[in-house]
Amino acid sequence: MGNETRPRIALGFLHGDKILKNVSRPGAKPVELDERLISMTDVHVLDPARHLPQAEVTRLRSSGPAARVELPGGVMAWSVTRYDVVRRLAEDDRLSRDARQHWPGLAEVPEGWPLAPFLLSPTVLNAYGADHRRLRDVMEAAFAPERLEQLGAHLIRRLPGLLAELGAPGSGQVVDVRADFAQVIAGETLCDLFGVPRERWADARGAMSDLLSPSEDPGVAAAQLDSALGFLAGLVESKRTSPAADMASTLAHDPGMTDEERVLALAVTIAGGVPATTDLIANAVADLLGHPDQLAAAVDGEVSWSEVVDETLRFDAPVQHMPLRYAVQDIDLGEGVVIRRGDPVLLGFGAGGRDPERHGDTAAVFDVHRLDKAHVAFGHGVHRCIGARLGRIEATLALAALFEHFPGLEPAVDVGTLRPLPTFVFGGRTEVPVRL
Ligand code: HEM
Repeated sequence: MGNETRPRIALGFLHGDKILKNVSRPGAKPVELDERLISMTDVHVLDPARHLPQAEVTRLRSSGPAARVELPGGVMAWSVTRYDVVRRLAEDDRLSRDARQHWPGLAEVPEGWPLAPFLLSPTVLNAYGADHRRLRDVMEAAFAPERLEQLGAHLIRRLPGLLAELGAPGSGQVVDVRADFAQVIAGETLCDLFGVPRERWADARGAMSDLLSPSEDPGVAAAQLDSALGFLAGLVESKRTSPAADMASTLAHDPGMTDEERVLALAVTIAGGVPATTDLIANAVADLLGHPDQLAAAVDGEVSWSEVVDETLRFDAPVQHMPLRYAVQDIDLGEGVVIRRGDPVLLGFGAGGRDPERHGDTAAVFDVHRLDKAHVAFGHGVHRCIGARLGRIEATLALAALFEHFPGLEPAVDVGTLRPLPTFVFGGRTEVPVRL
């Protein structure tokens, strides 16, 4: 599989190809697919390097509680798009995220497989059972409510400067809200969370960019990875002698973690936190600008900014899928669908929020006024997003400040023409240009 099919925003630090070579077991038997089950359902071909259109999601949902899908390299998996089934499976411990332990088919995936970067990092995201709990417990300590309150207060103080840097209200200047505002907030908030000294924020943001958007050139990408992980290792090391109330210090002083685990915990927080928060803010701006009456309701305080954030999460989830999970045992979903032990499963966190079974005929309509905004955009169960509260705080503060500071903010292009990111993992737009 060539590089051209790889999602542009890869979790670069995971460097799937490299790790894959180390874990491949050449002698392993291919996964045996249950031909009888496959013939009972349609097989949909899913391209990870393409946004999954709503019409295809609807087709997948109508196929059953799980639909048979083909991923690149002929890898067969199950796609789950119904709200209640996504929730049920996300909390079912018969599904694991640990490919090394629970996916026999891993040995067969072609080198350079585009999804490999997502599933091979030895981090909390891909850990199972007691190992997951151990890694997650340490990280959770860094997201204590009083700490999040402090991070929110710091963001409130930084916002006037960030807004001023965008340009003058009413100037007619065009800026990209996604890159120039949302991404800055997401990156800087993680600098603050980690405890990066203020004078090194620019370096930290450079390391984040190296991790999230590595070069297509493998040599350059390897150097970027080394440099970014080196930066994070240096940060953890500095906290051994001068600890403070921050995530890097918490990790540095946990007695049960290895040095590699400490650094990867920061890296997975970057991978989980930066793109998703960026797209949450940018998607909300795009959706509101596309619905001026709803924007007016939010600006007038008729609906709260947190309701806007929830409706954006439901309608326009920043994380559509986070590949993959694997059945540890057979799972009978009813309607004749049995997920067999070892089968990979793709949970549709974005699709779940748009399920008409839950939200009726208007499920695919953006409506900040709807009373029930239930979604699974942060996942559910033991892997539920560790940064959900922080992401919400950032998005709520950012939206309120942006629309207050720029009362005449308008789209610089027709919002209907904004291009989706070329991936089925993240649900953002490539850019969101606005006129100040
Ligand atoms: C604001 C928008 C965000 C969205 C929509 C989002 C979405 C998600 C989803 C769907 C998962 C579950 C993955 C799964 O079960 O397969 C997840 C996990 C995770 N998220 Fe977020 N996330 C957001 C923000 C953040 C932030 C701000 C951080 C960190 C500062 C973060 C860090 C993580 C981590 C570390 C995990 C893995 C947790 C585990 O496996 O136990 N996320 N996120």
